[in-house]
Amino acid sequence: MTTAFDPIELGGVRLANRVVMAPMTRSRAYGPGAEPTELMATYYAQRAAAGLIVTEGIQPSPVGQGYPDTPGLHTPGQVRAWRTVTDAVHRAGGVIFAQLMHTGRIGHPSLLPEGLVPVGPSPVAAQGRVYTHQGPREFVTPKELGEAEIRQTIADFATAGRNAVEAGFDGVEIHGANGYLLHQFLADNTNHRTDAWGGSVEGRIRFAAEVVTAVTEAIGGRRVGLRISPGNPFNDITENNPGEIYEALLNRLAGLDLAYLHLMEGPDAELTARLRKAWPGTFVLNPFTHPDITGPDALKLIEDGSADLVAYGALFLANPDLPRRLAGGGPFNTPDQSTFYGGDHRGYTDYPTLTV
Ligand SMILES: Cc1cc2nc3c(=O)[nH]c(=O)nc-3n(C[C@H](O)[C@H](O)[C@H](O)COP(=O)(O)O)c2cc1C
Repeated sequence: MTTAFDPIELGGVRLANRVVMAPMTRSRAYGPGAEPTELMATYYAQRAAAGLIVTEGIQPSPVGQGYPDTPGLHTPGQVRAWRTVTDAVHRAGGVIFAQLMHTGRIGHPSLLPEGLVPVGPSPVAAQGRVYTHQGPREFVTPKELGEAEIRQTIADFATAGRNAVEAGFDGVEIHGANGYLLHQFLADNTNHRTDAWGGSVEGRIRFAAEVVTAVTEAIGGRRVGLRISPGNPFNDITENNPGEIYEALLNRLAGLDLAYLHLMEGPDAELTARLRKAWPGTFVLNPFTHPDITGPDALKLIEDGSADLVAYGALFLANPDLPRRLAGGGPFNTPDQSTFYGGDHRGYTDYPTLTV
């Protein structure tokens, strides 16, 4: 029987185990350059025992930033600074993919360089509020992307993929989940387009498919993963037929020899099984455990064949040596939500490891 502690080959790289650190925004890339810091290198290196680390969401372009103090991967300074992080993780024996996250309509002009506004497939504002340096603010109506801007956005993802390789990352995970730009093209309530980037199933999956394809052409499919969250209403998303949409997307991507598909599961377990079946490649599962966080029970998903790898978010945040703790049945540190976003080393690099 395969267990979470067996190695696996992923995109040509050997992972020591099948426990993935899920992508988590931590908003600690302070300064105007949106560059990762030494403290971030320490944080990721501490977690190098993961089979695979997926970084926090990283904007592939200035307009892709939707939260304060998130890092980018579109300037030479950012590439240099990420090299410090990837070197630290590799020295500690880890494998690390960069999550490329364009937040689309989720954001605020005050988070963007002068003159830029959040963009989206259609001019539909998200309900709710976004966190800014000045406190919570209502979402604004995004600027509808024109054909040339869509092409430029796809090219920005490809460039960020190349930058990731130059910065020493083992690969990239494209963020197609959680109501950000790719998801906004896929979903019913955010994509009202009547051109080739909306309307039919084929139109709605096109942007996500072309982004993945472009990054694959830039750095090779084996270095590219995709994260999706079918049916997840987070960030004011409505999807009426996620099974049809995502199965079509997976069918379109099946030939690209991607490193993996990462499913952030919702409450519909049948949909998970359907997409697992539709995907010919490596399958990473971040299981639906709401209102709890993913815990030791998820290890059985590897044993029963539901997934090839399992992703842990909050538990990995609080337990830098998570694979060891999982292997020994605990104990586990408890994540402190008050230090999830922003702040200093507290609640970031000071969670203790086991001492014996
Ligand atoms: C602090 C925090 C930040 C997160 N940021 C991201 C992110 O940048 N990109 C992403 O795809 N998911 C993000 N997530 C979602 C996690 O990757 C994961 O799917 C979620 O926490 C559920 O898994 P868990 O129960 O193991 O924590 C974040 C979660 C947390 C707790």
